[in-house]
Amino acid sequence: MSQLKEFEKVAEDLGKRIISIINEKKTILIIGHLDADGITSASVIGKTIQRKKGNCIIRIYSEMNLEILNEIKKGEYDFHIFCELGAGLGTEIENSLKDKWIVLDHHQISEKEKKMKQVFNAWQFDYDGSKEISTAGMAYFIAKKIDDNNSDLSWLPVVAMIADRQDQGEKRSVVSLNKMILDDAVKNGLVKVSRDILLYGRETKPVYAALASMTMPFIPGLSGNRDACLATLTSAGLEMKQNGRWRTLADLNENEKKKVIESIIPYLTQVDTANDDVDSLIGDVYTLEKEDEHSSLRDVREFGTLLNACGRMKQAGVGVSICLGDRSEFLFESEQILKEYRKTLSRLIQLVLEDDARIVEKQGFNMVIGDGVVDEDMVGSLASVLSGVAKFETKVLLVRTTTTGNYKISLRRPSQVDYSINLGIIVKELVDQFNGNGGGHEAAAGCKIPTSNLKVFLQILNKRLQNNIENNG
Ligand code: C5P
Repeated sequence: MSQLKEFEKVAEDLGKRIISIINEKKTILIIGHLDADGITSASVIGKTIQRKKGNCIIRIYSEMNLEILNEIKKGEYDFHIFCELGAGLGTEIENSLKDKWIVLDHHQISEKEKKMKQVFNAWQFDYDGSKEISTAGMAYFIAKKIDDNNSDLSWLPVVAMIADRQDQGEKRSVVSLNKMILDDAVKNGLVKVSRDILLYGRETKPVYAALASMTMPFIPGLSGNRDACLATLTSAGLEMKQNGRWRTLADLNENEKKKVIESIIPYLTQVDTANDDVDSLIGDVYTLEKEDEHSSLRDVREFGTLLNACGRMKQAGVGVSICLGDRSEFLFESEQILKEYRKTLSRLIQLVLEDDARIVEKQGFNMVIGDGVVDEDMVGSLASVLSGVAKFETKVLLVRTTTTGNYKISLRRPSQVDYSINLGIIVKELVDQFNGNGGGHEAAAGCKIPTSNLKVFLQILNKRLQNNIENNG
């Protein structure tokens, strides 16, 4: 059987299992992770069950561990579907919930766990879970096996794949199973793909403000400088306002977009990587056709940020409601959450960058110390942003903060790091050694390490990453 057929067969079997649980009138607990992939995958499964008149509850968690498993067990639900949480904990979940569970995930897992019947994971079928499919994509395959009409949910995994930075094909395209899902979404008139300038906020921000907020590539003289962006674009002859309203990139015609590019190029030629940077200005953008123009839900990349913001700001329920279709007060609420999230993030960035004592450079990695000021749910977002900052570009970046009894640590491989390294695998090995929990992908991983083990964990990690640099150098 081909890889795809095997994958689809498991999705079909799980679909049948879920239907039989629904028919027995049992209650299903859906347990999702707090990021965009966790929220969308839980929503795909939740919506599918609701449509079949099943009973389900969605809960979103920032992590999975024995304590939370115990709490879940006490809830005495009839069945549990873990979405993007629980990878690596197969044995523990089985001990706790017997056979009343499945885990849908795309993180790398051990050979032992790959053999577990309750686990549905991209890597079991040799799909690369960091590029070829997200958890929401896996949930979508199950949903479609349950009912083909669920293809109208295809936009949700599109949000997840982009939020999870799986747009790693040529010009930020998506590949493999993700491409199949995207094709469904396009065929259903839900998503439009176009090649355009990759400005964040294309639907919601004035063009000059969107340009000023561009950090990848970093444009010397323009990034972070709204006044300079406004002056540059105005002097290129672009109308910045229409009927008293600031125009967004989505409002510009092709000719005007060409002018935007032409006015950026002189600034980029000052840097060594000019050709690559100019090239990286253009790529695939994904528009949710059914969402209102100028709403933060219309651009898939913005939608993903909004969901991550809801999760990280401890308001994941708002994100779930939006994924399930609510566009009333929850939409307004989510936009407020997004504002608050951005404010929090920029305050934290400033705070850590301005305090030298919070930055430690080791041979194998750079570390930003967020102890006492960074909430554990914000560590991952902070690490992702800081990994794009020039001074952290050459080595793996760690951001850490204190939590009760543990340190929460997020690791990122900045895009400029040119040696091969799989952070997910390294972290998995080390957490087992140091009584922690964690995992991740090649370029992004996270973990919790008991406070008493931090020092030696960092020493070993440093050696490991240092060896990696030397072996690749
Ligand atoms: O928490 P953070 O954003 O740093 O996570 C980075 C990646 O590592 C994510 O894909 C997340 O799902 C994964 N991760 C994990 N287990 C953890 C923490 C993070 O698999 N305990």
